[in-house]
Amino acid sequence: MSAAIVSLGRGIPRHILHNRQLEELLDTTHLWIKERTGIAERRVAGPDEDNLSLSLEACRQALRRAGMKGGDIGLIVVASATPDRLVPAMACTIQGELGARGPALDLNAGCSGFLYALAVAKGFLAEGLAERALVVGTETLTRIVDWRDRATCVLFGDGAAAALLAGCPEGEGILRVVLGAEGRGDGLIHAAGGGARMMASLRGGLAGEAGAFAEAIPFLGMECDGIYPFVRMQGRKVFRFAVETMCATLRELCAAESLSPREVDLVVPHQANSRIVEAAAERMGLPLQRFYLNIERYGNTSSASIPLALEEAARRNALREGDLVALLGFGAGLTWGGALLRWADGCDGGDPEEGGRGR
Ligand code: ACO
Repeated sequence: MSAAIVSLGRGIPRHILHNRQLEELLDTTHLWIKERTGIAERRVAGPDEDNLSLSLEACRQALRRAGMKGGDIGLIVVASATPDRLVPAMACTIQGELGARGPALDLNAGCSGFLYALAVAKGFLAEGLAERALVVGTETLTRIVDWRDRATCVLFGDGAAAALLAGCPEGEGILRVVLGAEGRGDGLIHAAGGGARMMASLRGGLAGEAGAFAEAIPFLGMECDGIYPFVRMQGRKVFRFAVETMCATLRELCAAESLSPREVDLVVPHQANSRIVEAAAERMGLPLQRFYLNIERYGNTSSASIPLALEEAARRNALREGDLVALLGFGAGLTWGGALLRWADGCDGGDPEEGGRGR
């Protein structure tokens, strides 16, 4: 027993922030950002949007496209590095809102999160613990970037995408998933904001009763100094890691299925930097046209980036029945992952509310 993607959906913020607008705020240019990263604009969640609202939009679209309702779903796995809050898991709130059943959990594997979540859901389905699952990648990264840091803030964007999974026979759907992590690289991409250490450091600064409590039991508080809450990244090192990892993961996936990377019809990579994808394509001797890129319009949306690109590829008819599709991700942790899928027609399932395929 395996699992297949039955339908996809997305939820993207209304507001678009173009590089030209950043030129007015930072010591940067549209040309620098476009040439170095491939990004022209990104979506930014407004005050009335968050991971929950974007994820619900994505899940509801995936359900409509599959002709299903919330009650048909028995598992929800959400991947996010920027959850709206620490407790409870966003997956539980989504389950409640959709009227779904069964287990619900969040996980964080940086930009590889969607692939980790896909592997978890595939495992649950294969074990018979659920019949259908929603796998969500969602991020509001613009809320954890330092808008004074031109080297990181220009890279990220917000958005959510969901894949509806159902059981299928072995040899169809998701053929194989590979995952990895190298914890010694944990300092290369880092964000301390919102975690328990940060909360403990804030406690000392609280006024009134909460502050007095910290004074009375000093070990409850922590020094604020040295805790930088926003994303910090060693871009060049991550760049090298990303190129090497993408190549190695695609080779590993294909070797495990006795296939050659040349037999892959479409690679949907994590959209971190178009130059990373160009370098990996060149190193693997594959034409760039075989890699689906939409980074120009969304920037790096971390856990949401692969499903957002896959949804778009399906919606724009870049995939055909029987195509071999490789999903490749890498990110904070350091983590990486890959999935090899056999595409079945209908995965893009026409949405009756949007007028069917090819939108
Ligand atoms: N505008 C203008 N100049 C800039 C900007 C900017 N926005 N940002 C940096 N620069 C400058 C730097 O200050 C530096 O100037 P200097 O030479 O005077 O010191 C110069 O440009 C070159 O900087 P580099 O960092 O060496 O530029 P590079 O070509 O490596 O590009 C980038 C930087 C885009 C970040 C690249 O390294 C990259 O994409 N790395 C990978 C990022 C990634 O994949 N992240 C994914 C994981 S994220 C996650 O998991 C949440």
